Amino acid sequence: MRYFVANWKANKNLNQALQWFDIFLKQPLPNDRAKIIICPPYPLLLPIKEKIKNQNIFLGAQDISAFESGSYTGEVGAKTLKGIVDYAIIGHSERRKYFNERNHVLFQKVVNAKKHLIEPIFCLRSQKDQISEEVNIIAYEPIYAIGSGNNESVEKVLEMKKNFLLKNNSIFLYGGSVNNKNASSYLSSSEIDGFLVGTASLDPQDFYAIVRLA
Ligand code: PGA
Repeated sequence: MRYFVANWKANKNLNQALQWFDIFLKQPLPNDRAKIIICPPYPLLLPIKEKIKNQNIFLGAQDISAFESGSYTGEVGAKTLKGIVDYAIIGHSERRKYFNERNHVLFQKVVNAKKHLIEPIFCLRSQKDQISEEVNIIAYEPIYAIGSGNNESVEKVLEMKKNFLLKNNSIFLYGGSVNNKNASSYLSSSEIDGFLVGTASLDPQDFYAIVRLA
């Protein structure tokens, strides 16, 4: 099974999101080979859930609060997200950079997600980032490759995977300027289980062109 995670970041309004699915769903999905996980901004989760209810597509949050619930203005906790998403991206380099998220906070997010049956997709920028024991899905995203058009070579990604010393059965994703031209080179390795896709996930045709490589 290959994973295709779309990270829309702070993009799209409701109409644009629904149009995205109108186009994306016109094509046959490789259901038995691809796990498709769409991570839109929070307010779009429920209307998208309605839109994809008969499809084999999963939803993820782009983040999750370190607090389960309570008096934390602006936060969205695991208790709220439970039943809406199956996955949550945790520790994306943009969260680490712009919101100063550090290991102890990220590990708490993992604990809360797991407690409410939300599977973390834990992002690592390099070997220096620590991995929480409870994490099963890792996304390696070198900072210089994100949004730059300079995707990391397959060889370097595989080398880094070895350095991470992941536990057995970990799902290992690559992210950073993945597009329909470079995606197949990663998938030719059985060591890379899929992608976290930013820019190329914003266009339904571009994203489909990656998913169909599963
Ligand atoms: P990119 O973003 O595909 O635009 O490089 C990846 C990410 O930030 O998750």
